[in-house]
Amino acid sequence: MSDARATNAYWGREGLERKILDALAAAGRNVEALTVDDLAPADHFHSGGKSATERLARLAQLRADMRVLDVGGGLGGPARTLAAKFGCRVTLVDLTESYVRAGAALTARLGLADRVTHRVGDALALDVGGETFDVVWTQNSGMNIADKERLYAGFARALRPGGVLALQEPMAGPVQPIVFPVMWARDAGASFLRAPGDMRKTIEAAGCEVRAWDDVTEEAVGPSTGADSPAHSVQRIIMGDALEAIVRAGQRNRAERRIVMIQAVLERRATPAWAPAPRTSG
Ligand SMILES: C[S@@+](CC[C@H](N)C(=O)[O-])C[C@H]1O[C@@H](n2cnc3c(N)ncnc32)[C@H](O)[C@@H]1O
Repeated sequence: MSDARATNAYWGREGLERKILDALAAAGRNVEALTVDDLAPADHFHSGGKSATERLARLAQLRADMRVLDVGGGLGGPARTLAAKFGCRVTLVDLTESYVRAGAALTARLGLADRVTHRVGDALALDVGGETFDVVWTQNSGMNIADKERLYAGFARALRPGGVLALQEPMAGPVQPIVFPVMWARDAGASFLRAPGDMRKTIEAAGCEVRAWDDVTEEAVGPSTGADSPAHSVQRIIMGDALEAIVRAGQRNRAERRIVMIQAVLERRATPAWAPAPRTSG
């Protein structure tokens, strides 16, 4: 299990729906007629924003009516995009309660509550009531989690055979250590990145086969200057003044290849690693 209190203390913020609407209104958006595109700067909390989400959705060949489990889905920007632009039905799970509350309110405001549901839950203890999904989706959500073996085994269990895991994750680059603070941690105590080769082996061992494995560090860049993070960006709304130091460290981590960004799509094998060995006669 993850430390829910530490996760909520780091990521959580109260009154987020109001803060987001006020920031969007100040930026000239009509908050009474919001679209997923209007919301995108304020609810896609990952490098590359909505275009990175759309890239991953195309890579995973998402289609209408696919059932998607979005793990660590945050405020729901990716989930609402998958519903509104790709026609998917999305169950979002996140450990930060204030994100789940604000995310559900934003989904209702956009009239997407019949296609996107928000639940509080731990990526390391997924409880989906035995349901399996066509897609497990996860974007910039595993960085605080040390036990990657358990994380990806849980993802594979939540997939139907032949279903796909679609992920975007920062991973450890060839130059180490990384420079702090980063978006997800003030110091090394809460950051657990592994190298792409190690991650790939871990996910394969969970019962998945690689369909695509792309280094998107150059295209899925995070904010590279303070000006890239206006008042209505999710990074500014959540991190406030702490963002300047995060942006500076991010520039170094990217330029010096200390952190790389990977988008990958993996298919769950029909017979996963945890299945009992077939019985032999005689
Ligand atoms: C940078 S945000 C990304 C949110 C969302 N995926 C997006 O791209 O907009 C990281 C998210 O991971 C969530 N998270 C961290 N540890 C988690 C855990 N053990 N279980 C579920 N969610 C977790 C945080 O609450 C936060 O919402």
